[in-house]
Amino acid sequence: MKKNTFYITTPIYYPNAQPHVGQAYTTLLCDVMTRCHRLMGDEVYFLTGTDENTEKVVRAAEKEGKEPSEYMQGIVETFKDLYKNLGIEYSQFIRTSDEIIHWPGAIEMWKRLQERGDIYKGEYHGLYCVGCEEFKTEKDLIDGKCPIHGTEPERLSEENYFFRLSSYTPRIKEIIEDGSLLILPSFRKQEILSLLERGLEDISFSRPAGNVMWGIPVPGDPTQKMYVWMDALTNYITALGFGRGEEDMRFWPGTHVVGKDILRFHAAIWPAMLLSAGLPLPQAIVVHGMIISDGKKMSKSLGNVIDPNEMISRYGVEATRYLLLRHVNTFEDSDITWERLDEWYEADLVNGLGNLVARILTLSEKYLNRNIEKIEPSEGMWDELGKTYRIDRFLEYTWSLIQGLDRSITKDEPFKVAKKDPENGAKMIAELIEGVGGLRSIAFALQPFMPDTSEKILKAIKENKKPDNLFPRLDV
Ligand code: MSP
Repeated sequence: MKKNTFYITTPIYYPNAQPHVGQAYTTLLCDVMTRCHRLMGDEVYFLTGTDENTEKVVRAAEKEGKEPSEYMQGIVETFKDLYKNLGIEYSQFIRTSDEIIHWPGAIEMWKRLQERGDIYKGEYHGLYCVGCEEFKTEKDLIDGKCPIHGTEPERLSEENYFFRLSSYTPRIKEIIEDGSLLILPSFRKQEILSLLERGLEDISFSRPAGNVMWGIPVPGDPTQKMYVWMDALTNYITALGFGRGEEDMRFWPGTHVVGKDILRFHAAIWPAMLLSAGLPLPQAIVVHGMIISDGKKMSKSLGNVIDPNEMISRYGVEATRYLLLRHVNTFEDSDITWERLDEWYEADLVNGLGNLVARILTLSEKYLNRNIEKIEPSEGMWDELGKTYRIDRFLEYTWSLIQGLDRSITKDEPFKVAKKDPENGAKMIAELIEGVGGLRSIAFALQPFMPDTSEKILKAIKENKKPDNLFPRLDV
């Protein structure tokens, strides 16, 4: 039987700082969906990487007195290490400074837009936020400042090439409305539709080479460099070989997982580029909310930063995956603090899953000396999740099963019953078999989220032996 293909991408992150927990979260979501689709039997390609042709990186490198390429190399390594530590298994890590993998496709994209007549020369007079790498208008600002970065944008007056984004507005609106380009959740679909309703303006797609240090030269005009977002969005296909042989283009179209901060680029500019280039549109754009801490954006000066590596050292990999996937609302903004993470860790893992596994397996090791009937993962277990992406809810439901099982053991006290009255032995065995079976289903449900924990539980059941403590108590 021919396998379905599934292609999932993270945004490519700016390597101008150590990985943020939000970036870890997006990548983790993609890892989970990759694992789900593999369990469904699909052939999966999972892309992540870094967005490197940007002034932000040059400025961050300067601050540390380093060459941009050396600086980026260091940051890229920290991203790769983090993914390794988090058990994230991607198919490719693309870097847009890669002149062999990425540049030919970005150049090919430019040429296609140009051949279509969608690129023209113009003057840009206006604002630009380097933090966002975005052209801004006065109405985007609050008190004259970028609301995301809190800085005043730069005033530019320069000659640029423009992309005819405005002419694609009606078509994009149509395809989002009729669902051929799926936007999840639906309130984000509404949000982008109302933006399209107001109409899109043409957008600068290049910057004068003299004003930006870094970037891909515009084909045929070395005095200009491509606008970083035009180049960055193209990564989703250059990674598959677009512009250099197209070896893996069979995976396209893909699903883009992004934070709400960059929805506009993905749901308006990117589809317009693809339409102009005569390429198929993405299958879906899945948009998650932002993670904040203690009601505020995380920042070093506020001291509320949650470093994903610190989470791993405190809770372990599997628990870190769980805490982020379960307690960050998949679609809404979420507030996490160390206090709350500690509480969830203790309640859900130490006293929840960990305790249940220990209870059931201690009993079964003692009283059951036969094999538990085989319980296989139920057919179609991941289908729903594959459609809704409600990872948090899936885990919430799984934890309700854990609590249910725990409660029934507490209530029935099968071990005490058996001790007091041997005649009840048969009842206890039956309950225990049920308990072990329940645990086995839970372990299957945990596979994409906590792969090692799932494996440990399944192994313990198979060997009928209590495993080592899964989640040690925190020593505060
Ligand atoms: N380089 C662009 C993306 C180009 S994609 C063609 C970019 N990079 S970024 O480094 O700023 O990453 C933004 C993404 O990181 C968000 O869309 C989100 O996926 C993730 N997050 C960064 N901070 C976040 C939070 N505080 N909360 C949740 N996720 C956020 O934009």
